[in-house]
Amino acid sequence: MADRDVVLEMKGITKTFGEIVALDDVDLTLHRGEILGLAGDNGAGKSTLIKCLSGAHEPDSGRIVFEGEDVTIENPREAKALGIETTFQELALAPNLSVTQNVFLGREETQRVLPLVPIMNKGAMETRTRELLSDLEIGVDPDKRVSDLSGGQRQLVAISRTMLSDPEIIIIMDEPTSALSVEAAERVLELIERMRREGASIILISHNFEHMRAVADRIQILHTGRDVGVLDVEEATRENIVDLMVSGTLEGRGGDDSDPSISA
Ligand SMILES: Nc1ncnc2c1ncn2[C@@H]1O[C@H](COP(=O)(O)OP(=O)(O)OP(=O)(O)O)[C@@H](O)[C@H]1O
Ligand SMILES: [Mg+2]
Repeated sequence: MADRDVVLEMKGITKTFGEIVALDDVDLTLHRGEILGLAGDNGAGKSTLIKCLSGAHEPDSGRIVFEGEDVTIENPREAKALGIETTFQELALAPNLSVTQNVFLGREETQRVLPLVPIMNKGAMETRTRELLSDLEIGVDPDKRVSDLSGGQRQLVAISRTMLSDPEIIIIMDEPTSALSVEAAERVLELIERMRREGASIILISHNFEHMRAVADRIQILHTGRDVGVLDVEEATRENIVDLMVSGTLEGRGGDDSDPSISA
């Protein structure tokens, strides 16, 4: 496992906003084909870390190594050009446009930097969307207006559109499964696993441990801007995650059964 192919490394990332240290020397490693969960309490630095990857923020210091090379990501276009797609849940969709129009929304930008997605006419876009949805086994009509979809269907569209450019890394932000029925949340999790099978490496940010544990290989925990641990999913019990999230340590748990401070 140790020599698994690494697709992305963030090393010593620090980011301040005035007096606030949002990220303090944070490391992150993403292996190829992996689903990495990112957990942490409100304000722990999850969004800030991801924004350093998606080109919304530039770190004060630290390195980002993508496919073995140091990169700087100065804006969202550069992130996309590298093959890093971020989905900001259904809020990113335009309700009055069709599913197809939403899938292609904003692609013109990427087009100028790297011709990943050829310019297409309406018919071709519809065909491509139909293909994409069918590959990912999403039973949504590409002609439907997004406002006519259920919340769960919107999430599926918002997430699946990141696959259009065949990205290396997909970041799924903040609660893709919140406010969904159990069944709809399961479909989103299935989609995430399917995207991994199609070749993407995925970072999933969520406050829902059960959802994260259902799909993640490892779960990394941030606490007040610091990287306090990465757990393999087998050791990522609810208790371990909560301990790291709340106090930044495992407080004598973490599988050390011989710890004399824990009796009976
Ligand atoms: N643009 C900004 N300007 C000033 N402070 C910011 C900015 N963005 C984030 N912060 C601060 O940085 C810290 C980390 O915030 P961040 O949004 O990354 O946390 P988070 O882990 O995503 O939390 P949540 O779970 O609530 O989304 C917080 O103290 C926050 O107030
Ligand atoms: Mg956040």
